[in-house]
Amino acid sequence: MSADVQKRIAGEAAAEFVEAGMVVGLGTGSTAAWFVKALAARKLDIRGVPTSEATANLARELGIPLAALDDVRSIDLTVDGADEVGPGLSLIKGGGAALLREKLVWEASKRCVVIADAAKKVDALGKFPLPIEVVRFGHVHTGHRLADIAAEFDLLPPRLRMADRGIVVTDGGNVIYDLPSGVIAEPAALGAALKTVTGVVDHGLFLDLADEALIGTDQGVVKLVP
Ligand code: 5RP
Repeated sequence: MSADVQKRIAGEAAAEFVEAGMVVGLGTGSTAAWFVKALAARKLDIRGVPTSEATANLARELGIPLAALDDVRSIDLTVDGADEVGPGLSLIKGGGAALLREKLVWEASKRCVVIADAAKKVDALGKFPLPIEVVRFGHVHTGHRLADIAAEFDLLPPRLRMADRGIVVTDGGNVIYDLPSGVIAEPAALGAALKTVTGVVDHGLFLDLADEALIGTDQGVVKLVP
């Protein structure tokens, strides 16, 4: 079974969790897109809160009514992908540069379900470089401060994320530094240290946020809890 099929079956399984009347957080990325498609196919009376402009556009195309985060008091259920799913459902997110809006939506949600293909499941976080969202003003200086923190944790310096057309800019107008690590031995301590830097808006460590995971495997969808 290809990774894409694993993503699809995980997304379809998560869509079954949605009930009429819910406010639903819509994640970002190729796995979350399968969820959005499966949700649209159910034609339920729901409102979606998108975590990126890309997801908002997809949901609009598929006819899902949308609400902004500030238009709702809380979110019943958020379904989103991840770059890594580690012990206790600790996650690395932000490969799609949407980590800030994703974390804001997750934190406003009563229940968060992460969906992923089997390759995303890891014994320790860190093979995927950790995305860090940084304000654009003075970002080179912020990058130097991040390098100092990386050194304290025996990690390599972060790299500014680039695309073919130049620096990657997030929906919020910020830039992304990716921190290569190999293994993040102390995710909570690293996350706390990163948040002490003024130019850092947030990072892609999602700790104690996921309530369950649906992992698409060759044997079907496997449910994990923290
Ligand atoms: C976007 C994310 C995505 O959920 C993550 O990158 C996984 O993407 P995909 O489902 O395409 O593998 O965090 O910021």
